[in-house]
Amino acid sequence: MKNRSFPSIILASIPMATAITFISSLLLACSSKPEPEAVEALIDDSQTDEAIVVYSSRNEHLISPVFALFTEETGVNVEFTTGKAGVLIERIKAEGANTPADLLVTVDAGTLGYAAQQDIFQPLDSAEVNTRVPVYLRDDNDYWAGLSLRARTIVYSTERVQPEQLSSYQELGDKKWQGRLCLRTSKKVYNQSLVAMLIAEQGEAKTEAIVSSWVANLAIPPTSNDTKVMEAILAGQCDVGIVNTYYFGRLQTKQVDLPLALFWPNQSIDAISGVHVNVAGVGILKHSKNVAQAKRLVEWLVSDNAQALFAGVNKEYPINDGVDINSQVASWGTFKSSPLPLSQAYILQPAAVKLMDRAGYK
Ligand SMILES: [Fe+2]
Repeated sequence: MKNRSFPSIILASIPMATAITFISSLLLACSSKPEPEAVEALIDDSQTDEAIVVYSSRNEHLISPVFALFTEETGVNVEFTTGKAGVLIERIKAEGANTPADLLVTVDAGTLGYAAQQDIFQPLDSAEVNTRVPVYLRDDNDYWAGLSLRARTIVYSTERVQPEQLSSYQELGDKKWQGRLCLRTSKKVYNQSLVAMLIAEQGEAKTEAIVSSWVANLAIPPTSNDTKVMEAILAGQCDVGIVNTYYFGRLQTKQVDLPLALFWPNQSIDAISGVHVNVAGVGILKHSKNVAQAKRLVEWLVSDNAQALFAGVNKEYPINDGVDINSQVASWGTFKSSPLPLSQAYILQPAAVKLMDRAGYK
């Protein structure tokens, strides 16, 4: 893989139809010299309909139908390559001014903040984005904006836990949950962002006490992913855990009568916070050669049509109110989310990582 040139990497990960379009345009570029009028037409065409290139850490099956709808509605092709966020960010940095990419789509405000800090974005500078995306789900410096919302919330066994026994994230450290709690590893950015937001709300000392109390209640060592947290609850190894909502949705799709349910913590009127939410988001690359079209795609992604699909396909929440929520997601009920600016998730991440280490959260 590392020795392959960029076009072959892109072709390896883009849908066949897009690949054929891409190959056709390459072949066209190599064909015999066209008449002057034809040259003009080709130039005009490339200026208006040049394909947009997206690097995405969001999986192909989640973005492919969204970009297909964009192409259907606008006639503009989207070529994308997928990979792990860290790898894509390093690649963008290495490619520098020569990057063929226009946009980075990735997940978690911690990762988006890291990407912004690496100086790979330019401001979105879009009144449309500012209108459609709530301010707490956008970067303070306008380098990225959320495209869909996921909640990181409590999941519990409906066979062994009554929802009345639950109340808040911090309460999962209560003695009654000793040997009954499962958590994903602290190495995952989702948990780093969750703890960063707890620091923002409650301060470092209180958050350290909360995380230490969670560690004391763990039934098994932290798992490698959210699904394993729920599998451990189903296997009777623990009774409660913390997961992103869409992982619950995926498991529920496989098993309709799943003996698990979501609980929305920190909802009492005097609670200083609410449910911790995070985003999948997007930024326009500093070295994009196609800024106008890139911006057009970003603005389309926050439109009603695109929002229903972008969020629904991964069982997430749309970024803006008024857009239909996927019916399965809607069945989980409504909740008050933490209003803290998500940019805090990145700013406080180093403190969160150190705090989890001190608390013995592996
Ligand atoms: Fe995820």
